[in-house]
Amino acid sequence: MSTKGNVLKALEENKGTTISGEELASNLNISRSAVWKAIQELRKDGYRIDAVTRKGYCLTQSSDILSVEGILPYVTRSNMADRIHVFKSIPSTNLTSKKMALDGAPFGTVVIAEEQTKGRGRRGRSFHSPPLGGIYMSFILKPRFDMTKSVLITTAASVAVCKAIEKVTGIYCQIKWVNDIYMDKKKICGILTEAVSNFESGQIEYIVIGIGINYSTDTFDFPEELRKTAGSLFEAIHTTKNDNQPKDLDSNPLITRNRLIAEVINQILDVNENLEARDFIPEYKKRSFVLGKEILIIPAGETGEERNFSEGTSAVALDIDQDGGLVVRYQDGSIDILNSGEISIRTVSS
Ligand code: BTN
Repeated sequence: MSTKGNVLKALEENKGTTISGEELASNLNISRSAVWKAIQELRKDGYRIDAVTRKGYCLTQSSDILSVEGILPYVTRSNMADRIHVFKSIPSTNLTSKKMALDGAPFGTVVIAEEQTKGRGRRGRSFHSPPLGGIYMSFILKPRFDMTKSVLITTAASVAVCKAIEKVTGIYCQIKWVNDIYMDKKKICGILTEAVSNFESGQIEYIVIGIGINYSTDTFDFPEELRKTAGSLFEAIHTTKNDNQPKDLDSNPLITRNRLIAEVINQILDVNENLEARDFIPEYKKRSFVLGKEILIIPAGETGEERNFSEGTSAVALDIDQDGGLVVRYQDGSIDILNSGEISIRTVSS
């Protein structure tokens, strides 16, 4: 690790407390001027580091630039230091993950970006991924099923993200089948699961799960068509306050993107270790806000766009089955199980 990386690691491990230049220098076996130089470089990168006269340096609690050093202290697994990769700006963390997987990156690798210039959503849509307020991350995971069970992987990921958000922020989120995560009726997270197959054998070699969370993203900057439906976990300045407290980021500096990313890593790796047990299904049902509701089932059109809203088939969402499928009852009384990610649903009754 570079001197700058080592100094950052030490500051992250002592976040909120002051550590002297002398101590940093002797712990890292470098000169005090090397410490000073690293501090200047980190400040240039945007880190908020206070210099306290005759006492030393303090990385302020609310400093939240994404970094491996900032994430790692909260990751429960011990073998993750070389598996977490943070980029400033890349086209898409899913794309980078797929390339890394083909180049031999191990299962459990996580790719994170401050900004995506070509963020990808489902059905060929783009995913708005501006810098600073968002979380864009992808996991390279081992396939535990054939892709007919891909809905199960996605439903497990939705539960993992909800649990991570609740643990770190106290905010309770709900799920719209299959994997859209909502807070206060606004979508704050989307998940895109993709498979990487071996060209020759046709076998699925890796699963890439991409997660995009609007953390403190200003939805006023969202494309117009998204503004009505998209929300952000901590849009403190723009949204009216509600029960899902706390919203004020500065009043609780322990809530940071680095901390939330670490918890998403913990939860996703945990749930995937034992996916076959399907332990997460009851939690999924509890958080689902479509069950018991009248819905419209809208198949995706050939262009990747949804078909006309009025073309949807009306049904009632009854249950989630053991493979994450949505059990529905049509108006003629017949029962069906929806498994395809190519279907989108809209709630009709509230
Ligand atoms: C959707 O709601 O349509 C799914 C959005 C998934 C977005 C995430 S952000 C991280 C990862 N990289 C991408 O390009 N997409 C996913």
